[in-house]
Amino acid sequence: MTAQLPPFLEVRQLRHCYSQPDGSRVEALSLDHMSAVGGEAIALVGPSGSGKTTFLHILAALIRPTHGEVLFGGRDIFAPRQAGAHWRAMSVGYIFQDMNLLPDFSAIENLLLAAEISNVSGPAATERANSLLRRLDLWNQRGRRPADLSLGEQQRAAVARAVIHFPSVILADEPTASLDAENAGIVMNILTELCAESRTLLIVATHDEAIKKRFARVLQLQRPRAAENPEPVLPEKAV
Ligand SMILES: Nc1ncnc2c1ncn2[C@@H]1O[C@H](COP(=O)(O)OP(=O)(O)OP(=O)(O)O)[C@@H](O)[C@H]1O
Ligand SMILES: [Mg+2]
Repeated sequence: MTAQLPPFLEVRQLRHCYSQPDGSRVEALSLDHMSAVGGEAIALVGPSGSGKTTFLHILAALIRPTHGEVLFGGRDIFAPRQAGAHWRAMSVGYIFQDMNLLPDFSAIENLLLAAEISNVSGPAATERANSLLRRLDLWNQRGRRPADLSLGEQQRAAVARAVIHFPSVILADEPTASLDAENAGIVMNILTELCAESRTLLIVATHDEAIKKRFARVLQLQRPRAAENPEPVLPEKAV
């Protein structure tokens, strides 16, 4: 009999509250359970303020949830042996809505810097960067800085940067929000192809119905109750 493998990624009883400087708390995310396997592609949807970005930030260990667990291969990503920053550098590729490319570096330098942070360096990194630049139709633009690339080219460079270290999970926060329909389609095709080939788990937050329809699996977040009717913050009593 073969031993049962733990799920690739599993989330249990996740809650997140942000603390405000005035002492009030914002209920940002509530998700009881979710699990996914490598190679799956999931659309993350929900109304504005339902916690999509918060969820992606937790999965990338950019923030620690106020309650609950995120397990990868049965291990807590925040546990000391697999501390968040290490998890993020080695296993996660993150694509931001506004791309977040480093403005003073060329497209290829952006890729190589990301590779180095994730311990991919030397000829292997250059080879991987070159092959991605060719595949994403950025070869002729590789020496240009982000400001000298079109939005579609910038987003393709952001995709290349996110996958350069062969991550286990790609998290994309509205990756096509600033693109026209044609470029959005190109970016989504590349992203889903690259993830399917390497059995990478892909989670894409989106408001776009056309993007949502591409996914067989949709994870719907609801705004936590308290966030729908936030309690008014009363002024402090004068003493
Ligand atoms: N740093 C923060 N401090 C306080 N509250 C925050 C912070 N970031 C987000 N929030 C609040 O948490 C809730 C969830 O925000 P989040 O950005 O995760 O939602 P979202 O689903 O990504 O929304 P959108 O679709 O508009 O991008 C919202 O009520 C938001 O105002
Ligand atoms: Mg968001």
